[in-house]
Amino acid sequence: MAKKILITGGAGFIGSHVVRRMVNNYPDYIIYNLDKLTYAGNLENLRDIEDNERYNFVLGDIVDAGFINELFAKHSFDGVIHLAAESHVDRSITNPLEFIMTNVVGTVNLLNAAKEAWKEQYGGKLFYHVSTDEVYGSLGEEGLFQETTPYDPRSPYSASKASSDHFVRAYENTYGLPIIVSNCSNNYGSYQFPEKLIPLFIHNIRNNKPLPVYGDGKYTRDWLWVEDHAAAIDLIFHKGKNGETYNIGGFNEWQNIDLIRVLCTVMDKKLNRAPGTSEQLITYIKDRPGHDKRYAIDATKLNQELGWKPSLQFEEGLEKTVDWYLNNEEWLNHVTSGAYKNYYSKQYQI
Ligand code: NAD
Ligand code: TYD
Repeated sequence: MAKKILITGGAGFIGSHVVRRMVNNYPDYIIYNLDKLTYAGNLENLRDIEDNERYNFVLGDIVDAGFINELFAKHSFDGVIHLAAESHVDRSITNPLEFIMTNVVGTVNLLNAAKEAWKEQYGGKLFYHVSTDEVYGSLGEEGLFQETTPYDPRSPYSASKASSDHFVRAYENTYGLPIIVSNCSNNYGSYQFPEKLIPLFIHNIRNNKPLPVYGDGKYTRDWLWVEDHAAAIDLIFHKGKNGETYNIGGFNEWQNIDLIRVLCTVMDKKLNRAPGTSEQLITYIKDRPGHDKRYAIDATKLNQELGWKPSLQFEEGLEKTVDWYLNNEEWLNHVTSGAYKNYYSKQYQI
């Protein structure tokens, strides 16, 4: 019997990779992609599979409880992979409420709908919540985030994601809802909206625009290729244990400024520019308020229990990513027109 899987936020960056993977790898799945198509959601991300008969797009808002309840009543989903979210820290600083609505209220609406739809029989069902390592707060020079690290969110974005994680676990503890949570480090790769560091800087280098580095640039992130995250989500959805949390990370820490220099070198090569040309675009600007110093994930549990590890070295993933953006200028032009321009001029006065 075909299984019906609801994927929320499937028109976004990571969601589109998860949708594509599930449609292509599981012939007995019917995939429903529920997305509001905010500025970050783009159906062009799924052109290659949009005609597949096992793929369905549903336009809708997870904040609308009535709509979500009807959707669950209509389709009797076997599983949910929940990625829909407001995801950009800088936007959460200017508009926290939108993050509370989508990330917290939206998640609780989905939990309520799943609980109601599955109440006769929880067996074989799963609510898989995709979250971030930012819920753990900020690390000093040493140490890694474990699954047991206490939550210490420090931005409106991470506070809203932490809250949603707590609700997901509370529904398991209180109602016995079958759930899994994963917390992943920073992703990079194709189809990422160019407001996040790597695609923004590729776009700016391509167009000879300043590269706005926050503060001293000595902030550290752990970078994972998005297709490796999608592979981890697939594995956890199928093999993960009910009620568990899995950390996902790249074992790949970079200070922003070092990463930016490597990116500049790759871009000089790809654009046939003299070595050192792109680095001249680096422009230090006022720091992000409350900027978290360092994130780094310990993904040992996922490796030891389910056998997952990243498939790519960072340099290889970065080069693939640069190639993708340079070969998909039309996609970039579409997403950087209109509303993007207003956001950009408000966020960066350079
Ligand atoms: P994204 O911003 O690219 O995509 C989010 C998607 O959710 C968009 O398609 C958007 O239209 C949709 N959406 C937003 N509000 C909605 C609403 N109210 N109803 C329905 N759909 C809505 O985000 P992403 O980077 O792909 O992140 C996906 C998930 O993974 C998020 O939950 C995020 O917290 C988590 N995550 C992201 C990263 C990362 O580095 N990007 C790392 C770890 C975890
Ligand atoms: P970002 O891609 O926004 O992810 P997150 O804040 O969720 O980790 O930023 C990654 C790092 O790059 C973070 O330390 C902030 C920094 N950054 C800049 O220095 N300049 C920028 O314009 C952006 C978007 C980010």
